[in-house]
Amino acid sequence: MTLSWLVREYGEVSSTQEVAERLASGGAREGTVILAERQNSGRGRMERRWLSPKGGLYLSIVLRPGRVGGVHLLTLAGALAAAEGTRRAAGVSPKIRWPNDLVVGGRKLGGVIATASTRGESLEFVVVGIGVNGNFRTDELGDLSSASATLMELAQAPVDLPSLRSRILEEFALRYEGWGRGEELKLIRLARSLLSTSGKKVEFAHLRGTVTRGIAEKLEEDGSLVVKVRGKRLRLRAEEVEWLREL
Ligand code: BTN
Repeated sequence: MTLSWLVREYGEVSSTQEVAERLASGGAREGTVILAERQNSGRGRMERRWLSPKGGLYLSIVLRPGRVGGVHLLTLAGALAAAEGTRRAAGVSPKIRWPNDLVVGGRKLGGVIATASTRGESLEFVVVGIGVNGNFRTDELGDLSSASATLMELAQAPVDLPSLRSRILEEFALRYEGWGRGEELKLIRLARSLLSTSGKKVEFAHLRGTVTRGIAEKLEEDGSLVVKVRGKRLRLRAEEVEWLREL
């Protein structure tokens, strides 16, 4: 399984995720990348909005993995690619705040989302979306500004968006191809080394509505996070957790 890229560039779109899903439903091939300068309805995890001013990197990748097992690890592959690609292109080394945030000093620099479409029992396609705050000021993110970071502010210089995009796609291809060869453990090991939460006090909101505090322990091989809460170990799955933050 080797990925070759077919990058389609847009000015403003609603959401690259939405465009990619539409094109994938219409048969777009694996490796199609939807790249936009800005989004007016960028999507975040759990139906949240993703503010997407000009200057950021917004892309969505169409994948046709052909197997369902372990597909949820593709979000982690996206987060690793975004972290490594950012380090190589901008010299800023983000950590991964489980499950899919890119953070620098606790502030959010980017995020990853993955959506899958199934037909009957089989997987039709997966779209992995990556957003990185690039060349704009955090002021542009309104209420979120104090919890956010941008590459331009961190590096005190604008980042070259085309090289950021290329490095992230290169890293993603490596991770995806590894995943396709069954190297899930390698992916998890790499993610463990980049996780911001290991051993830290965290607070998280469960989808059932409860907010709980505990100590984040290990990232399990299936991508779930073990958190010790009042002496008990809970195994959190990404889809059950609305948000998680370090205390
Ligand atoms: C999150 O942290 O909640 C995930 C954010 C994912 C944002 C990216 S930007 C490119 C792609 N298109 C979208 O609408 N969302 C993802």
